[in-house]
Amino acid sequence: MKHTNLKKFPDAFFWGGSTSAYQIEGAWNEDGKGPSVIDMANHVEGVTDFKVASDHYHRYQEDVALLAELGFKAYRFSIAWTRIYPHGSGEVNPKGIEFYNNLINELIKNNIEPIVTMYHFDLPYALQQKGGWSNRETIDAFETYSKTLFANFGDRVNYWLTINEQNMMILHGDAIGTIDPNLENPKKELYQQNHHMLVAQAKAMKLCHQMLPEAKIGPAPNIVSIYPASAKPEDVLAADNFAAIRNWLYLDMAVFGRYNNVVWSYLEENGYTPTIVEGDMDILANANPDFIAFNYYTSQSVAESTGDPSDINHTGDQHITIGEQGVYKGHKNEYLKTNEFGWEIDPVGFRTTLREIYSRYHLPLIVTELGLGAFDQLEEDDIVNDSYRIDFLKKHLEQLQLAISDGVEVFGFCPWSAIDLVSTHQGSSKRYGFIYVNRDEFDLKDLRRIRKQSFYWYQGVIASNGDKL
Ligand code: BG6
Repeated sequence: MKHTNLKKFPDAFFWGGSTSAYQIEGAWNEDGKGPSVIDMANHVEGVTDFKVASDHYHRYQEDVALLAELGFKAYRFSIAWTRIYPHGSGEVNPKGIEFYNNLINELIKNNIEPIVTMYHFDLPYALQQKGGWSNRETIDAFETYSKTLFANFGDRVNYWLTINEQNMMILHGDAIGTIDPNLENPKKELYQQNHHMLVAQAKAMKLCHQMLPEAKIGPAPNIVSIYPASAKPEDVLAADNFAAIRNWLYLDMAVFGRYNNVVWSYLEENGYTPTIVEGDMDILANANPDFIAFNYYTSQSVAESTGDPSDINHTGDQHITIGEQGVYKGHKNEYLKTNEFGWEIDPVGFRTTLREIYSRYHLPLIVTELGLGAFDQLEEDDIVNDSYRIDFLKKHLEQLQLAISDGVEVFGFCPWSAIDLVSTHQGSSKRYGFIYVNRDEFDLKDLRRIRKQSFYWYQGVIASNGDKL
């Protein structure tokens, strides 16, 4: 559908960028921080760990000054649960509260709205040792942690995101470290964990509304359009299956508080249904998120799976499994180009994703991740010419404006990532930021910050409120 009159980006649009604690902060064991599952995981061979990352913990003032220079209206970052509660629950660590107080104050001083992710993959290791999300007590720990966050930062933080990409933690639990892949029935366990996370999220949303009536809170899954490999009805059905399992399970639950019927029948069929205790469904039905945040990198295409074991594929680089016998199998979309890491690039899919989410839920949307990972090169005179990133973001912003013109209500765009950080699986050489951090995989060099070409481009976009893409 063409628009002869494009709608403008809304006034007060949250132009910004995103990061997460373990990928940017470093200082992994400083000032009383406890270990998280990320700190204790076996790291992928050949790439760095997260111990120093971008050293943001020690350089946050310099970093915020750069974000202010970029013109950021909002900054999405996550709080490390293990800085606040080193052991997941019990005693609060005052130094952890102090760090985020300082960061939030610095942002506000620079007129940047803090958007806080409460939990971004880094579950406290102490909780993991007690069963992690398989243990219902983790729900209570999350509720207490939420209460502490709202009580300490709620006077200045108006936007809260509960759990980053819960759907990826469940779909790719073995790759992200949510689950021990050697368990006899890992999927059953994962769907039990999923249920506990959903209840924990709903409790946090309710608590937020009680404690901070002016604040807004929402979920932050990774949602993308799922295409059928062809118009063959069986392929379309497979796409419908996968969309329900990958996307709608999480948003139907967050927004309506009910299990998606296709997913529930899939869980029943496979013996994966979780134990639901009395009161859970009530809690889930009364969460009432104020908005939906979502991350988007690429669309996905799937085909019918006739049940052949070869329908399950393992992507080497990200250690992710795609496909499920009899449900769907992965399909390479021949219409899309890929980036250096093999991820399909699909700006139009971004528009369809925005439209799909909005037409299903009619809640305001904010994009909390979208970006291009690349091996950026630092040239002489501190030049990083990431024109490919500018092109990528520009094409996606054009589609965002088209979606806004389609009537989708979007209040912010926070691409991944504000500053270079360590990729979840592929080290520090896979860069996403507007600001280059001078380090190599294993050589920390001077960690100095360098403005990339995309920095100057995005600065212009923000200054013109999206008129100049
Ligand atoms: C998202 C995560 O899944 O994708 C981020 O929320 C992650 O933590 C990002 O870094 C990009 O993925 P990767 O594997 O390239 O770091």
